[in-house]
Amino acid sequence: MASSPRNSIAAAVPNAAVVGLQWGDEGKGKIVDLLTARYDTIVRYNGGANAGHTVVVGDQKYALHLIPSGILYPEKLNVVGNGTVIDPEKLLEEIEKLQARGVLVGENLKVSDRAHVVMPYHKEQDAALEDFLSSKAGKDNGGLSIGTTRRGIGPAYADKISRSTAIRIGDLLEPTILRRKLDLICGIRTAELEALGVRTRPLRADELSERYAAVGERIRPHVTDTVYLLHDRLDQGKSLLFEGANACLLDIDHGTYPYVTSSNCSTLGIPAGTGVPGSRIDVVYGIMKAYSTRVGAGPFPTEQINPIGERIRERGREYGTTTGRPRRCGWLDLVAVRYSSMIAGATAIACTLFDVLTGFDELKLCVGYRLPDGSVTQRFRPDADRLGLVEPIYETLPGWSEELRDCDERSSLPPNARRYLERIEEFVGVPIEIISVGPERNQTLGGRTLVGV
Ligand code: GDP
Ligand code: IMO
Ligand code: MG
Repeated sequence: MASSPRNSIAAAVPNAAVVGLQWGDEGKGKIVDLLTARYDTIVRYNGGANAGHTVVVGDQKYALHLIPSGILYPEKLNVVGNGTVIDPEKLLEEIEKLQARGVLVGENLKVSDRAHVVMPYHKEQDAALEDFLSSKAGKDNGGLSIGTTRRGIGPAYADKISRSTAIRIGDLLEPTILRRKLDLICGIRTAELEALGVRTRPLRADELSERYAAVGERIRPHVTDTVYLLHDRLDQGKSLLFEGANACLLDIDHGTYPYVTSSNCSTLGIPAGTGVPGSRIDVVYGIMKAYSTRVGAGPFPTEQINPIGERIRERGREYGTTTGRPRRCGWLDLVAVRYSSMIAGATAIACTLFDVLTGFDELKLCVGYRLPDGSVTQRFRPDADRLGLVEPIYETLPGWSEELRDCDERSSLPPNARRYLERIEEFVGVPIEIISVGPERNQTLGGRTLVGV
């Protein structure tokens, strides 16, 4: 049988990626939900339940962690790719919660058999290491801890790289293989957890394998080889929308290491995390808040620990979707955003939470860093120790007092708001094609030609 040529049919709608340009929580969920209207398949490629993506539809608010933000459109296919780490009990909980609210989750959700499993001991390891590091003297009250979400993300990815101690989703469907793996893992992991002083009772391979084989049976209808699934859809001319979790500055290779997450969150994670080559990604939406936030520890040059930061936190309701932690807030760092856009290959920017900036007399944009030797750079420093030493150089722009939520196109924004956007485009060199002025679908400007809103 002649094989069909792969990579040959261009989709009617260009394949696109949505990726955060800062430290997460840029409003990716809202933008993915909006863009879903014109895509066939929505694909998560990295991260796990550390992500918290909010979608607001009328008076309903949905917080998605593992399931792609396209799930609210029943006719779209949602795929969780091989590059993710899945806590299967959390996945089941998320499915049930959505179903209880009348959202269809069935054949429209597919999960890679090669995604890695977050096991309970990964969460114990994550918490134990964080607690241990917190007790070590550091720059702030958190000591040396990273401030992870404690969802077991780092330890699960560490096992993926270590290989012999990893469990993949497909293993949950094979009780004999699962038991064999857990027999090996439980001995090793118990010793490690005891060394960290957190486990008094040994991990039981029989208990865990029974529990996770049962979980495997429940998720079996969703599990498949998503690499072939995605390529089959490409061959049918269907369009893919990739949904990044976390964000470029948290990328394991290109973020503010070691204060990062454990996956490639930028578009660079898509090929490895889905099996779809980067050459199939046509459009990249970099999602950027109109200011900066960060949850957890790590350098944040433009942070405002003062009434400015507090005002942004309160107006933007900047509290974590996953952990509820207050987010650190500050001015927009254009050096960082330009770097992220470069790494991600952003072809368009969606500027979100723009409404939050109403009411400031003036606004600051970071356009350079002063280094300890007095020199100035416009290059980002993706390393915590080096970034921690920079002093931001700001440009000051006039603010505006009008609320933006009722504006319906870019030209109706106050002149100073337009000026703010133009300066961002000029500095970053990427056009702002979507402007979000509220959490709801219709509080979106400039996206009309793209998404029909
Ligand atoms: P994500 O992780 O990138 O999907 O972002 P989160 O959902 O964690 O955080 C973004 C928060 O901002 C959510 O509560 C959204 O409902 C909200 N949001 C998104 N866009 C806007 C906007 O333009 N204005 C305001 N005020 N809130 C927004
Ligand atoms: P979304 O997709 C904001 C941060 C954590 C911590 C660091 C490592 O909602 O934008 P981890 O649990 O991944 O080992 O934590 O990364 N972090 C996020 N911050 N939004 C996220 O996801 C995040 N995912 C991880 O706070 O500092
Ligand atoms: Mg979030």
